[in-house]
Amino acid sequence: MMNVNMRVLGIETSCDETGVAIYDSKHGLLANQLHSQIALHADYGGVVPELASRDHIKKLVPLVQAALAEAKLSAQDINGIAYTSGPGLVGALLVGATVASSLAYAWKVPAIAVHHLEGHLLAPMLEDNSPEFPFVALLVSGGHTQLISVTGVGEYTLLGESVDDAAGEAFDKTAKLLGLDYPGGAMLSKLACQGNATRFHFPRPMTDRPGLDFSFSGLKTFAANTVYNSADDQQTKADIARAFEDAVVDTLIIKCKRALEKTGFNRLVIAGGVSANLTLRQELIKMMKKRGSRVFFARPEFCTDNGAMIAYAGLLRLSAKIDTSLAVSVKARWPLSDLPPVIR
Ligand code: KG4
Ligand code: ZN
Repeated sequence: MMNVNMRVLGIETSCDETGVAIYDSKHGLLANQLHSQIALHADYGGVVPELASRDHIKKLVPLVQAALAEAKLSAQDINGIAYTSGPGLVGALLVGATVASSLAYAWKVPAIAVHHLEGHLLAPMLEDNSPEFPFVALLVSGGHTQLISVTGVGEYTLLGESVDDAAGEAFDKTAKLLGLDYPGGAMLSKLACQGNATRFHFPRPMTDRPGLDFSFSGLKTFAANTVYNSADDQQTKADIARAFEDAVVDTLIIKCKRALEKTGFNRLVIAGGVSANLTLRQELIKMMKKRGSRVFFARPEFCTDNGAMIAYAGLLRLSAKIDTSLAVSVKARWPLSDLPPVIR
């Protein structure tokens, strides 16, 4: 990738996870520390931005120290600092951006503002057999559902996206309807394993017309009506979870196929929190096998928010010798297609 060995400290604070990692251009991931705020927000049924920022302030510096200790490195061994600059909660982003810029100033190294979704998108490259360009990426997180044509680092063309709720958001809202704790995506999926797939049938939104956009808010309403009109027993809940998950997975698969056909690419990458979903992974493995190709994804802890993906994306950008700045930069909204390409 590059001649000089480079070690980047990555900082993620865009939402409810404080993540810090160190990625080495020669030796790969040297440290990965994560603190999840799930317990902090559980009573509120969702992320409380002010509480998130305060908790990042408490946890971030100790996690940086823990990452250095895990990697058996000191500050002088770090060549650059990458931090999530957006999109996300502004207060939470400011914590990471401020700490990153301050450390970069003190350690006399560059700081690089990383796009959270670029982090997710490149996370499968942290694994062995990482995907080569070009590929179609399905980015499915708590805040985004996007299909993207990826021809290189920073070469992203949006093919389609959700016109309302993100897939993860729909999982979480439906989980709440079923009485599961926030964020219920993973728990809904577990419950769905015990469900009967034939008892309920949910629609596959926006699949009966051409195009690559998604809509998931109707599914959540469909789930609400089904819950309202059904008995309150555990098996019924599992059956609803199963019908909901099957509908989301089917819909995502139909759109992935269309995106592959439209671009002519034969590789598919899935990233973001919902790409940890086992049914989605299994069904996509089958679908891609039939096409004589394969789907790439990261291990589950690198699908949800983490510092490793930010360190890695930061390394790719820093090693391309692009301009860096110590200015604290955060963006609540930031289209992925605004990123400059990395010239290799
Ligand atoms: O990427 P992520 O950690 O945060 C954002 O950037 O949004 O994604 C979190 C989302 C949540 O909505 C969570 O419920 C969902 O990913 N999620 C899952 C699973 N694991 C996490 N959804 C379905 N099945 C899972 N196994
Ligand atoms: Zn994320």
